Amino acid sequence: MNFSVRFLPSGKVVTVSGGTILDAAILAGIAVDAPCGGKGTCGKCLVSVDGIPEKVRACATPVDRDMVVTTAEAEGHRILTGAAGRAFEVDSPLKRVNVRVAKSKPGDNRSEWRKLTDTVSEKTGITKFNPNPELAGTLYDKFAVLAGDGEAILLLDDIIDLRAPSERLCAAAFDIGTTTIVCYLLDVESGEELAVASILNPQSKYGADVIQRSNYVLEMQENGGDAYALRDAVRSALNTLVAEAARDAGITPDDIYAAAIVGNTCMHHLYLGLSPASLVHSPYNPAFSEPLVLKAEGVLDINPLGRILMLPNIAGFVGADTVGVMLAADFESLDKLTLAVDIGTNGEMVLADSTRAAACSTAAGPAFEGAKITCGMRGAVGAIDHITVSGGKVEYSVIGGGEAKGICGSGLLDAVSELLAAGVIMPSGAFDTDEFPDRFFTYENQPAFRISDEVFLTQRDVREVQLAKGALAAGIELLAKHLEVKISDIESVLIAGAFGNYMLPSSACGIGLIPAELSDRISHIGNAAGEGSKMAMLSKNEWVKAGRMAAATDFVELAADPDFQDCYVDNLIFPGDDD
Ligand code: FES
Repeated sequence: MNFSVRFLPSGKVVTVSGGTILDAAILAGIAVDAPCGGKGTCGKCLVSVDGIPEKVRACATPVDRDMVVTTAEAEGHRILTGAAGRAFEVDSPLKRVNVRVAKSKPGDNRSEWRKLTDTVSEKTGITKFNPNPELAGTLYDKFAVLAGDGEAILLLDDIIDLRAPSERLCAAAFDIGTTTIVCYLLDVESGEELAVASILNPQSKYGADVIQRSNYVLEMQENGGDAYALRDAVRSALNTLVAEAARDAGITPDDIYAAAIVGNTCMHHLYLGLSPASLVHSPYNPAFSEPLVLKAEGVLDINPLGRILMLPNIAGFVGADTVGVMLAADFESLDKLTLAVDIGTNGEMVLADSTRAAACSTAAGPAFEGAKITCGMRGAVGAIDHITVSGGKVEYSVIGGGEAKGICGSGLLDAVSELLAAGVIMPSGAFDTDEFPDRFFTYENQPAFRISDEVFLTQRDVREVQLAKGALAAGIELLAKHLEVKISDIESVLIAGAFGNYMLPSSACGIGLIPAELSDRISHIGNAAGEGSKMAMLSKNEWVKAGRMAAATDFVELAADPDFQDCYVDNLIFPGDDD
C-alpha cells in the first residue's frame, strides 16, 4: 500500500510504501538531523506529525498512513556559504572557442575530429588533444546544423563539446561537508557567482561522522546489503543542489559543463563509490588521492558531456577540503608561519610557512555540531549561540530570537569558557556546585547547570568538550613539533568552517582549544573549503596548484605519533590556576 508524505514548509510530497519518516525525508531530499545514524539513541531527529500532539522520532516512526510532517529543516539551519576571498586571475580550465567549421570539400580528407582540432589549435595554440570519439561521432551532423558557426567547449586539454554560440559558460563548485553540502554556480568567464544552494548532508541518516558512515558501507559490503546507499544519497543531494542553483540563475543544468568538488577523504570516496575500507583500517590510507577528472554522465546531472574535477586528497582523513582551505588562504605564497584550522565534524589542521607544510586530522567535531550534548543542536533557529557569565548573571542570545530550544557549538564553547572563568567549572573539568548553587540540579545522576528554562549543561557535556578540545589542541602541538617550531612562533591562525566562523576566539582560547598566546593572531576565513573549490573551477593555475600543494604537504598521523597519547591527556585539562 502506498502512502503520501507531505513535508512542511517546503511542500515536497513523496509516495512511499512503508519505511520510517526519516526514510521518506531522505527520499524527498530533506535532511533531518540524525546524529546516531537512525539507531534511535540520540533523540535529535524529532519532527511534528499531523494528528500527533507530541514530537516524534523520525527514525522510529513508521509511515503507515498519509501524513503531513514538519521538520527542523523548516526552522532555518545556519549554513555558511560565504568566505573572505582572495584575489586571483579568472582563467578557468573550462573554456570556449569560437570556431567556423563547415562540411568537408572534395579533396579535404581530414577526419571530422581532425578538422575540429585543427581549427581549435589555430585559435588556442594547443596542439595536442585527447581523442574524444563520442564527440567525433556527432560532428558531421553538428557541422551541418551549426552551419559553420559554433563554439568548442574545452576542459583542460579536452574538447568536450561543440555547440551553437551561447550567452554564458557555466560551472559548479561543490563543498561536500560531513554535515552540509554547498553548491556554487559560477560564470567561468566573469567569475561571477550566479547562485548558491545548500543542504544538510543526507548521509547523516547513516551516521554522524565519517567513521560511522564508513562502517555502514563496510557492513553492507559484508552482508550483501546496499553498499552504495551513501554514494547514491550524496549524488542525489548534489543533483538537487545543482538543479536548484540552475533554476535560481535562470539556466538549465545542460548549460553547466563542469563541476569542481572538495570534501574530506571519506566524502570523496563515498561520492565516487570507492570502498572506505583502507581509510578505517590502520594505517588509515585513502584508496585514491590524486587530482581526478571524470565524465559527468551518470554521476552528476549537468551537461552529459561535462566533466567533474575532484580536487586531490592529502592523506588519511585530510582531504580535498583541506586543500581547498590551503588554496583559499594562498598557502603557496605564505610569508608567515600560519596555522589553518577547519573545525567541522572532523577537525583538520595545516601548519605551514613559505617552504614547508604539515597537516593532521582529529575526530573533534560531534560535540560542536550538537551531537552527544544533552541539549545540543545545530546552529539553527532556537539555538543558544553565545553566552556570557558576569556579575553573578548568565545572559545568552538565541538564533532567530525567541525561546531557547538547545545549544549549538559556539554557545557550548562560550558556556564552558565563561563558566571556567567564573569558577563554576574547574580546570579538571569538574563542576564546582558551590558557585551559582541555585542553577544546579541533578540530571541522570550527574550535576547539571541550568542556562535557561529548557537548556542546561551536564557534567558529561563538559567531558565531551574536553575530549574534543584535547584532540584539537594536541593536533596543533604535534604539528608544531613536526615542523620544529614553537607554538609562540605561529604568526597567524586562520579559522575556517561553519562552527569556526561563529566561535569567539576569546572562548576558544579560554578553554585552551587554541593556545592562549595566539589569541591576538586569530582571523576567520569563512567557508574556505568551498572558496577553494570555486578557485579551482575558475582558475587553471589554482587547479594545478591544488595538486602541487596536496603532494607537498606532510601528513602527520596523530594515532601513530608516540607523543600523541600524553599530549592528548595533558590537553584534556582546561587552562587555570592549578595548570
Ligand atoms: S534518535 Fe533518530 S536519528 Fe538518532
